Amino acid sequence: MNTFGHRFRFTTFGESHGKALGCIVDGVPAGLKIDEEFIQSEMDRRKPGSNEFATARKEGDKVEILSGVFEGLSTGTPISMIIFNENQKSSDYSNIKDIFRPGHADFTYFHKYGLRDYRGGGRSSARETAARVAAGAVAKLLLKELNIKVQSGICEINGIEANSFDFENALNSPIFALDKSVEEKQKSAILEAKNSHNSVGGVALINVKNAPIGLGEPLYFKLDSQIANAMMSINAVKAAVKAVEIGDGILASKVLGYDNNDQIRKAGFKTNHSGGILGGISNGDDINVKVYFKATPSIFIEQDSIDIYGNEVTAKLKGRHDPCVAVRGSVVCESMMALVLADMVLLNMSSKMQNLKKVYAK
Ligand SMILES: Cc1cc2nc3c(=O)[nH]c(=O)nc-3n(C[C@H](O)[C@H](O)[C@H](O)COP(=O)(O)O)c2cc1C
Repeated sequence: MNTFGHRFRFTTFGESHGKALGCIVDGVPAGLKIDEEFIQSEMDRRKPGSNEFATARKEGDKVEILSGVFEGLSTGTPISMIIFNENQKSSDYSNIKDIFRPGHADFTYFHKYGLRDYRGGGRSSARETAARVAAGAVAKLLLKELNIKVQSGICEINGIEANSFDFENALNSPIFALDKSVEEKQKSAILEAKNSHNSVGGVALINVKNAPIGLGEPLYFKLDSQIANAMMSINAVKAAVKAVEIGDGILASKVLGYDNNDQIRKAGFKTNHSGGILGGISNGDDINVKVYFKATPSIFIEQDSIDIYGNEVTAKLKGRHDPCVAVRGSVVCESMMALVLADMVLLNMSSKMQNLKKVYAK
């Protein structure tokens, strides 16, 4: 199942060491200005190999638009985009050809499909998320026209928490840190793990400004359930406690009703414990979502595993890996949020007769 969304939907294809990755974005209204430089700038934020906090795999991640755009505008037909892989080193994986990497998807993919693309994990690799970012950039262009802003940053690395959330700082930080005062500590935690051949987890915060009231399609396509679905579909987002927290998240189950409710005044809600969503529908307040990433599974410490024949072996990994996937993962979360909202914005247009009359009534 490689398609996401209803009205604004996208499908991705490709794997880590294949020739290319890409996506087809369907349902984009005709006449949207497709700013290719913006799409590329989004790709550049996620691309690997740009600093010591990311994997050393160097990819240009240049996006080529194959269809659906004419003279800079969307035509209303599927927009397809391709990203060629340039820096695969499949030999890095030859010594673990038959061995399952603990924590990775090797074991489950092998048992489900009965064969193994050992080259970087194949389709289970987060290399696929490059295509999501390309699709997400188109969603962001649509949302921009409606003045809806999606932004993200890192709020926690290895338990070191941000005390303030500055999205401008995140844009200029090599680890997308939201709080400058803890950024150096967070960077050191990543480098310490990397230097000891290990990895660390982290948490991304995604914030949406100016979401209109009414986004979300109860009951089975609620805004919060789709955000959770979108975020949980990203590699390494874990359900150990609750991987995706909307608003106060798990804290909501620990406090009393009076402390959890967002009281209402004419000017708006007095607080935002709900994270901008009530009954599965956006309430007009900021949408705030925290996404929890586990530590990168591929580490360079010897670990116990088994091979595809069931023999007990020692897994010794080589190759290039992110020491903390939350960093680049935060950009993927932002893209998935934009994709969910673009879908919801289009779906919501048919929620009332008065909307239909605006378009069709003579
Ligand atoms: C942006 C991003 C980069 C990632 N890079 C790596 C990596 O370099 N090495 C690795 O083992 N896992 C990496 N992962 C995580 C794995 O893809 C993921 O843990 C694996 O597919 C198993 O799936 P699960 O953790 O969701 O169960 C990355 C994840 C993301 C979101």
